[in-house]
Amino acid sequence: MSYPRPSQASQPSYGYIVSFHDLHPTPAAFREEVIAGLRRSRKAIPAKFFYDRRGSALFDEICQLEEYYLTRTELALLKRHAAEIAALVGDEALLIEYGSGSGRKTRLLLDRLPKLAAYVPVDISKEHLLAAATELAQAYPYLRVTPVCADYTQEMAFPDFEEFPYRRRVVFFPGSTIGNFTPGEAESFLRQAAEVAQRSGALLIGVDLKKDPAVINAAYNDGRGVTADFNLNLLRRINAELGADFDLRLFEHRAFYDPTHGRVEMHLVSAQAQTVRIGDETFSFAAGETIHTEDSYKYDLDAFQAMAGRAGWKAQVAWEDERRYFAVCWLTLT
Ligand code: AVI
Repeated sequence: MSYPRPSQASQPSYGYIVSFHDLHPTPAAFREEVIAGLRRSRKAIPAKFFYDRRGSALFDEICQLEEYYLTRTELALLKRHAAEIAALVGDEALLIEYGSGSGRKTRLLLDRLPKLAAYVPVDISKEHLLAAATELAQAYPYLRVTPVCADYTQEMAFPDFEEFPYRRRVVFFPGSTIGNFTPGEAESFLRQAAEVAQRSGALLIGVDLKKDPAVINAAYNDGRGVTADFNLNLLRRINAELGADFDLRLFEHRAFYDPTHGRVEMHLVSAQAQTVRIGDETFSFAAGETIHTEDSYKYDLDAFQAMAGRAGWKAQVAWEDERRYFAVCWLTLT
């Protein structure tokens, strides 16, 4: 089977999104999850709701911060090992990226994979997904780009992509976003990714590793306050989309590494006793009470590979940086 290539001038070029699968959760689902989370004795809101347009832009800004070593370290690993990774992916693969970000990491792969069957970015944030997919489609005019807007933290019926002949599926999950799941959820996610990848599939995944807590704490408490803005933006989003009246001046960002659980916990702390409304629902906060907004687990490489093994994956290669801050892992099913 042959596909249009840049060098094949007589072939049509794509340069646009060839199909869009919208499995996006409804606004009612957002409201229900927020209200259920705030009714809990320990208030919590799922981290996946950070990513509206502004939240996604703030996250992109976090990725550029001096203190946020994750992105820089992973990019350097992908750059250094791009040729080897491309050889492992091979020709005519369907590259499925979960949580497609700004596209910088993707481009490192796409530059080396001119014979990709299609690129399938999957993200919960529709605007961000479409903007990033359109940019990539323009930058790689021969590439089929078929975005899927979905909440991949939930079970979902993945499109079958029968319309594209391809040799194998490769799931790309960079950024250590796996760390935003609890270990139990992470294992279920890896099991689901194994189903999506199918028998001959592979997984390329970024994992943030355990290290000096001071380094981790600095990454989530940056000097410019971008992470604080990112955290507080969740309340701004709830105000805008769910008609709530959170006063952002009365909540503070708190993030700390808990070595016992091997995770960063992120919270919004109520500065005083107060009552907040979401439509006709009311929620009371004591002074100092928090909304738990995110966990970011850090792994030992062995523990991560053992967890992936329980989900059906076989660890093949792990590339680490010199400081052993971060690992990019290649796993297969057979
Ligand atoms: C997307 N995820 C991997 C980020 C992290 O590091 O857990 C989200 C983030 N939260 C605060 N800063 C960045």
